[in-house]
Amino acid sequence: MAKTLVAYFSATGTTTDVASRLARATDSDLFAIVPTDPYTNADLDWRDKQSRSTLEAADPSCRPAIASRVEHIENYDTVFLGFPIWWYVAPAIINTFLESYDLAGKTIVLFATSGGSGMGKTASMLRACAPDAKIVDGGVLNNKSDAELEKFAARYL
Ligand SMILES: Cc1cc2nc3c(=O)[nH]c(=O)nc-3n(C[C@H](O)[C@H](O)[C@H](O)COP(=O)(O)O)c2cc1C
Repeated sequence: MAKTLVAYFSATGTTTDVASRLARATDSDLFAIVPTDPYTNADLDWRDKQSRSTLEAADPSCRPAIASRVEHIENYDTVFLGFPIWWYVAPAIINTFLESYDLAGKTIVLFATSGGSGMGKTASMLRACAPDAKIVDGGVLNNKSDAELEKFAARYL
């Protein structure tokens, strides 16, 4: 079995595309982080102060449930963990993911897609969710070619 996992959350498909190509380029297993309660378009409306995503971003204790688990996470040394940037950081479901497993000794390479923002304080905020893992800020990967994704991954493998 591959020793590398690409796990990702995507609400509108952009991160799915990057994660799938990254998994193919690195011959990794691919795991979609699917919310038990999927996000509707209304949930994603960042202009609405009462939308689900806005309320979740304002609540540091929020941990949206995930529909399924990675089987045998112990088999992976490196996990590429992708998500859209929401309100300058990772969506709270990424905190849920990190807190759901024993990730001690693993390298977690964060990557994101965004509308233009960088990763900001994402990595330092997520470190509290997996204190025994090595969490690395891999950066935002919008519009990368397959060759660029392969080069990106090679830095960590
Ligand atoms: C609730 C919400 C908040 C967002 N906040 C940001 C942000 O702070 N900075 C940014 O550049 N893009 C932001 N975006 C845009 C997404 O990061 C971008 O469209 C991303 O590529 C979507 O990925 P996905 O299609 O995999 O869900 C936000 C989108 C949503 C829905």
